Amino acid sequence: MDYSFAAAIGLHTLAAVIWVGGMFYAHMVLRPAVTEMSVSLRLTLWSRVLPRFFAWVGVSVAVLLVTGYGVLLTGYRGGITGGNLHIDVMQIVGAVMIALFLYMLVVPFVLFRRALAINDLGAAAVQQGRIRAIILVNLLLGLFTTFIGAAGTFVGY
Ligand code: HEM
Repeated sequence: MDYSFAAAIGLHTLAAVIWVGGMFYAHMVLRPAVTEMSVSLRLTLWSRVLPRFFAWVGVSVAVLLVTGYGVLLTGYRGGITGGNLHIDVMQIVGAVMIALFLYMLVVPFVLFRRALAINDLGAAAVQQGRIRAIILVNLLLGLFTTFIGAAGTFVGY
């Protein structure tokens, strides 16, 4: 028996768990826990946490794309466009999430690091706020995508 689709969808789900779970932890657990810290300490903490997390998001994005399109291009269900609606929605929302992540990486995150390097805490805090907003949007999109990715299989439409 060929288990390649099963392995690919299993890895796909693990990548989603790492990305969405990491955003949930950052936004819902770490962020409220550090609000009482001084601005300088808080920004230093984020400057150490975010690069590590973003590296894992990069790996997760690569795995999501390779496994997602890997199965669709090799005959899983209806292929790229002929499958169920939840797979189309997942591709569209997934593309938005990835675009937001890349934008965050090359604009606010670069500006955040640059501001911290010259000890401009005000500017760093502004960029950190933009990063936080993008992570919140991606968290909501990611929770939605994960829900429909898993539940859509059981809906006959
Ligand atoms: C961007 C391109 C993506 C493609 C091409 C893609 C493709 C697929 C496919 C073909 C399935 C199987 C659906 C089924 O059997 O009914 C699937 C399932 C799933 N996807 Fe995606 N996906 C993408 C992005 C994402 C993203 C961004 C997330 C979440 C962050 C995600 C989370 C999931 C989950 C949780 C499942 C359910 C696995 C299961 O329990 O069967 N996917 N995806």
